[in-house]
Amino acid sequence: VTAIKRLLIVGAGGHAKVVADAAIASRNFELIGFVDDDPLLQGRPILDGLVVLGPTRDLDNWAHELIVVAVGNNADRRRLFTLLSQTGERFATIVHPDASVARETTLGAGSVVFAGVVVNVHAHIGANVILNTAASVDHDSRVGDHAHIAPGAHLAGGCYVGAGTLIGIGAVLLPGRSVGSDVVIGAGAVVVNDLPDRVTAIGVPARAR
Ligand SMILES: CC(C)(COP(=O)(O)OP(=O)(O)OC[C@H]1O[C@@H](n2cnc3c(N)ncnc32)[C@H](O)[C@@H]1OP(=O)(O)O)[C@@H](O)C(=O)NCCC(=O)NCCS
Repeated sequence: VTAIKRLLIVGAGGHAKVVADAAIASRNFELIGFVDDDPLLQGRPILDGLVVLGPTRDLDNWAHELIVVAVGNNADRRRLFTLLSQTGERFATIVHPDASVARETTLGAGSVVFAGVVVNVHAHIGANVILNTAASVDHDSRVGDHAHIAPGAHLAGGCYVGAGTLIGIGAVLLPGRSVGSDVVIGAGAVVVNDLPDRVTAIGVPARAR
């Protein structure tokens, strides 16, 4: 039996609420509250009466074993994850109980897996990744650190998604396709050809703009 660990959530927006809900549903954590640097959010209740306790710099004021960076924007989430790693924070990996994670997969530190997600056999998910509602990552695929697979997006088997990349809502990668780092794939796009780093690609078939 693993001891329940105290968890602080960094961020207090819509995405943070869903992360909190998944953490509570998993029964693996004692949720302490939220931290956020927006002065207007201080003290505000976010979910289940849990409030924004203070700004990120005051994290140490609230006893905790784990944090998670619950910020949707990939660049902001990467920056906060890197900063807070350097100050010795440890990151929770949160999986909603209604997600299906196959055996012989890996999920990195700070990654979150929402309801309806399927991660299939031999898929490897990096650190600080979002697998959003009902997304799927099929067998032998790899998702780099700080990436976001948005709701209802699907990676076929053997795909690769680079670090910091957003696969938009409902987008699809055909089997074995590779997308570089810091890419944005628009909502509903179908990735038919491999894509390099730092492009935005939209449409069916997806083309870099
Ligand atoms: C592709 C995307 C990044 C473009 O954003 P943007 O640069 O702000 O683009 P705009 O809204 O100004 O639209 C620019 C043009 O692209 C078109 N366009 C925008 N998104 C598109 C998409 N997903 N597929 C096809 N065309 C799209 C617009 O209709 C517009 O066309 P026009 O110039 O002929 O009028 C954005 O629309 C998108 O799809 N983001 C994904 C969001 C997402 O899934 N987030 C996850 C949340 S959980």
